Amino acid sequence: PQVREYHWTILEKEGNPDGIFKPMMTINGQFPGPLIEVNEGDTIVVNVVNRASNATAIHWHGIFQNGTAWMDGTAGITQCPIAPGQSFKYEFTVKGQSGTYFYHGHQGVQTLDGLVGPLVIHGREERTARPLSYVSDRVVMLQDWYYDSAEGLMVEVLSPGNEDSPIPNAALINGLNQAECSLHAGRRCDIEGTFLPTMNLAPGASHRLRFINLGGFAWFQVSVDEHLIIPVIEVDGTPVEASPESDLILSPGQRYSAIVTTDQTEHESFWLRARMIKTCFAEPIIPENGSDEARAIIRYSAEPQAQNVTVPQALPTTNNTNTDYPMVCKDMTSRKQYHPSPPLPAPEVADHSWYLRVNLAIGDWRLQRGVMNSSSFRPNLKEPTLHRLLDGLASSNESFTAEGVNAAAFDAKEELVVAHRGVETVDVILQNMDENSHPFHLHGHQFWVLGAGHGYFPGYAALGLQPEGRGLLDPANRTVVENPVRRDVATAEGFGWVLLRFVADNPGVWLFHCHMVWHSEAGMAMQFVSRLDDLRAWTLPEESRRLCQPPEEELRRGA
Ligand code: C2O
Ligand code: CU
Repeated sequence: PQVREYHWTILEKEGNPDGIFKPMMTINGQFPGPLIEVNEGDTIVVNVVNRASNATAIHWHGIFQNGTAWMDGTAGITQCPIAPGQSFKYEFTVKGQSGTYFYHGHQGVQTLDGLVGPLVIHGREERTARPLSYVSDRVVMLQDWYYDSAEGLMVEVLSPGNEDSPIPNAALINGLNQAECSLHAGRRCDIEGTFLPTMNLAPGASHRLRFINLGGFAWFQVSVDEHLIIPVIEVDGTPVEASPESDLILSPGQRYSAIVTTDQTEHESFWLRARMIKTCFAEPIIPENGSDEARAIIRYSAEPQAQNVTVPQALPTTNNTNTDYPMVCKDMTSRKQYHPSPPLPAPEVADHSWYLRVNLAIGDWRLQRGVMNSSSFRPNLKEPTLHRLLDGLASSNESFTAEGVNAAAFDAKEELVVAHRGVETVDVILQNMDENSHPFHLHGHQFWVLGAGHGYFPGYAALGLQPEGRGLLDPANRTVVENPVRRDVATAEGFGWVLLRFVADNPGVWLFHCHMVWHSEAGMAMQFVSRLDDLRAWTLPEESRRLCQPPEEELRRGA
């Protein structure tokens, strides 16, 4: 194992990834942020210096952080935000997982202004133990893009009477695209120096593409023209039995690795298309002067990657046969089952089942809120949950009861926190009460996706639920899937449900939230505490405490 150390300065900068200028948040002036590429077992050290005007925090999406919960990077949950002028050293070891991940700002909506980047963990026998081998391996980042500063948009989202989330203006692949400047009269635009992403893939071979949706709001459908079969071999870090697909759908936060085989003989260049799925938007319109599709060029070529590639004039837009597939706001898993390889069976029964109703609501104040049961989350930036919890445990004045539920959890309190003691198996039935699909992400764990569907969860009656949502799934009624997929983002479709099972074996406080940032920012989030008893022995590192002591104004500026 090695130590991989990075030095990052968070900088505000005007940028024009596709030609149109906007205020961005960058890492060392770079966008997307630098690739972190490590081997399983390595230690990642990232020294972050915040030179931006807002407080920030960096989250490592999908990384377990086993034993280092305070490094999870969630402002208000595991740490105080890094105030302007401050620095913080993230340090954690990646164990027991490999595959495709990413990192992003976890303070406000900074993700949408560019604070994102890829993270790849190579497994020990990644290339040899695979059902399919490949000669090259690369990251394909899909991202929705807003031309206005996301922070400004946030103010609009939360303004009285507003019900809809802003629709992205464009999409990017690996941070690149080319806008048509003449269509954007009101905006400063210059496409000089911009280009379409190009991937040189050696002909007659297989290549691994790691698709990551690291955007904040849009779902993507991806396909490669004339390459009708792209077997999936990884789902959110879990290796799966190769499963042939013609296209992939990714909600925000999801990843898939697929194998593209360069075996076509008619042409040498093909479009890789990434379309934002418009039916996922409440108001299904892309502003006419934007585009819902981003394209990259896949070129059969053994030559090393060229830097700046101009678009070949006549790239065949031949049979893009993949457009027939329904573009729906549903996980791939609603189309078919993926099976972990080697098998990774879920425990047969759970110790607890939680029934969580989620919806977006316009409350009495006509402000849009995301609601889980009756709680709508707001991070406590000055006293993160983990800090309060450890201090509470130290003074044996804990507010998390032995039953596993914060006494306040199911009241109309702001904060829904569910705590588990020891290592427990937990079921979550996410019942979506509104028309939007909500892709939920659990920090620090992966869950098995045991089932999903439309309408009410069918086991509802059999659950024996008390009104407050406690109760065990009737074992006779449990959903049985052979070797179900295990991942870290899964969706409750509009007016539908999803049943997730996880083992709460990772001590800490973990956010569980919709990964569409407008929704999570509006409060569609809650927290799970795992292994409460083991936290008793913990002391928070000085580095973590220190962050919580900047002058008060500075903290608030980032709020
Ligand atoms: Cu990808 Cu809570 O985040
Ligand atoms: Cu949502």
